[in-house]
Amino acid sequence: MNSVTLDFRIEPNAHPVARDVREGLLVDPGFGRIFTDHMVTIRYSVEKGWHDALVGARGPILLDPAASVLHYAQEIFEGMKAYRLADGGTALFRPQANARRFRESAIRMAMPELPDSLFLDSVRHLVETDRDWIPAGEGGALYLRPFMFASEVFLGVRPAREYLYMVIASSVGAYFKGGAKAISIWVSQDYSRAAPGGTGAAKCGGNYAASLVAQAQATEMGCDQVAFLDAAERRWVEELGGMNLFFVFDDGTMLTPPLSGTILPGITRDSILTLARDQGLSVAEAPYSFADWRADATSGRLVETFACGTAAVVTPVGTVRSAEGDFTIGSGHPGQMTERMRAALTSIQRGTAPDPHGWVSRL
Ligand code: PLP
Ligand code: COI
Repeated sequence: MNSVTLDFRIEPNAHPVARDVREGLLVDPGFGRIFTDHMVTIRYSVEKGWHDALVGARGPILLDPAASVLHYAQEIFEGMKAYRLADGGTALFRPQANARRFRESAIRMAMPELPDSLFLDSVRHLVETDRDWIPAGEGGALYLRPFMFASEVFLGVRPAREYLYMVIASSVGAYFKGGAKAISIWVSQDYSRAAPGGTGAAKCGGNYAASLVAQAQATEMGCDQVAFLDAAERRWVEELGGMNLFFVFDDGTMLTPPLSGTILPGITRDSILTLARDQGLSVAEAPYSFADWRADATSGRLVETFACGTAAVVTPVGTVRSAEGDFTIGSGHPGQMTERMRAALTSIQRGTAPDPHGWVSRL
């Protein structure tokens, strides 16, 4: 299952973006609005299995209006980055972990599992083809978005029999406009992201669709991101709309919510857990209530909170707002542990620190 190979047909884009235009775009790419010249497609049908692997020109796709993804939302995706290393090489960070999570998301959504070998070949082919789109600036990377959806033309409610898998790539800088500045969080007490037994641990589009009204509310309240509480008790802090959370205490210990099935098992979260424990720090994976977060921040027992994810890297949280009022974390500015974890992670990703866990996968 995990080592199927296909020959990728390579059809170079006949009209790539001109070099000077591309270089202009890469000066300040922002997040998710600049796309490269190529994309990958692989088709799946129950009859043929995985077939027709292609690296071709990026462009619109033709979709029948009855394609079942448009009705029942059978769709999953991944988010990962290709980095320019300090020595000029190019690398992916823990791509096998993304390949595995993509299969786990597929299983939850009753979709076919893409063999890891095809996932890895597809992202490697795209990065090799569009390597020149990696921005040179600090924090710049090529954000890769592998995704798969039900393309069968059928309105009955059952798992589809045909799928399209694709990878697109976007040149990115920092996810948040303020760069490494502390962000503000709105705690949603009206809306839940995922319930026990639901799809919270899968990276499926539906989870994000369900989060958008709460994210819009966060923006309305002047905040950068929304934080969700657990759906059953509305008591435990789970994660942000697109990032996991870590809490840092005055005795140097840390805590992150456990993988209970309702949050995304973040690869950045797992990497920070590993790096922190490598450094001899004590990190618990345990529930943490919103009430304790507020009380600990107010008493000074909690000194830092940070968000982490592929897009956000490690981002400090400065203020927390909810219907019950605001509170500030520490000084409201980036804290020492946040900076230490960010540096530990990014120096491995950029090839300026040793890589004891073999996370950096050179192309
Ligand atoms: N939680 C959610 C809801 C996310 O969308 C993401 C981003 O992918 C994460 C957490 C962090 O996951 P990762 O570190 O694998 O990017
Ligand atoms: C990622 O970090 O890869 C995500 O999918 C989160 C989103 C906020 C872009």
